[in-house]
Amino acid sequence: MSEEFGNKLPRHVAIIMDGNGRWAKAHALQVAAGHRKGVETLRGIIRESSDIGIEALTLYAFSTENWKRSPAEVGALMNLLLEYFTSEIDELNEKNVCIRILGDKAGLPDAQREAVTQAEKRTESNTGLKLNIAINYGARAEMLSAVRAIAAQVEKGELRPQDITEETIAGALYTHDLPDVDLLIRTSGEMRLSNFLLYQCAYAEMTFPTVLWPDFSLADYHAALSAFGRRDRRFGGRKE
Ligand code: FPP
Repeated sequence: MSEEFGNKLPRHVAIIMDGNGRWAKAHALQVAAGHRKGVETLRGIIRESSDIGIEALTLYAFSTENWKRSPAEVGALMNLLLEYFTSEIDELNEKNVCIRILGDKAGLPDAQREAVTQAEKRTESNTGLKLNIAINYGARAEMLSAVRAIAAQVEKGELRPQDITEETIAGALYTHDLPDVDLLIRTSGEMRLSNFLLYQCAYAEMTFPTVLWPDFSLADYHAALSAFGRRDRRFGGRKE
């Protein structure tokens, strides 16, 4: 691994791609143009993550709360998702990327649900970058569905309450076979988690670059990875 990252790459990087709207406004464009430019950034970051050997990359593309935006903006985002999952799948598959959707797929329009399900199926046995795209995702909804699944096991007598562990909970989340998030990046200077991977970010290092997502460059990404390599992670312990 490159010295550039302090010989310590995060296993799991999660990104809140914030600032598309502000970028569009600053360029006197419609918000949809900001999201489209955001997809270009996302392409480069996915390629780079795969090339440098990141194990898992999770991107927040559409939250359960994003349905509250105008029909035009929701429509533009849904079109971009459809376009992305149909046009990029060959290249991602060639790069051995394994795609997974985190979120409630049942709530997506038919065409988008079919496209993402196809992408997951086509790449499920790939062994390279685990690319997780959070769509119609909310961490509280994820936890609620985990609690219901665990309660159902208890009701059937398959699990005793005293045998429920932190691993039982982690195992019932969308991210059940992924490592915890090591590095969370949120662009645009906002410092919030916005209902993203609340359980999985328990010990995540966080960075909040002020650059808007459409302008987030590979150099910005490398800077975040290098800073991670210099952090001293203690997981609640103490170094003597
Ligand atoms: C936040 O910016 C960004 C989003 C709500 C959507 C992110 C989606 C993409 C980058 C494209 C779609 C994804 C795929 C996988 C094709 P904002 O609009 O909240 O920005 P603002 O805070 O400046 O208004």
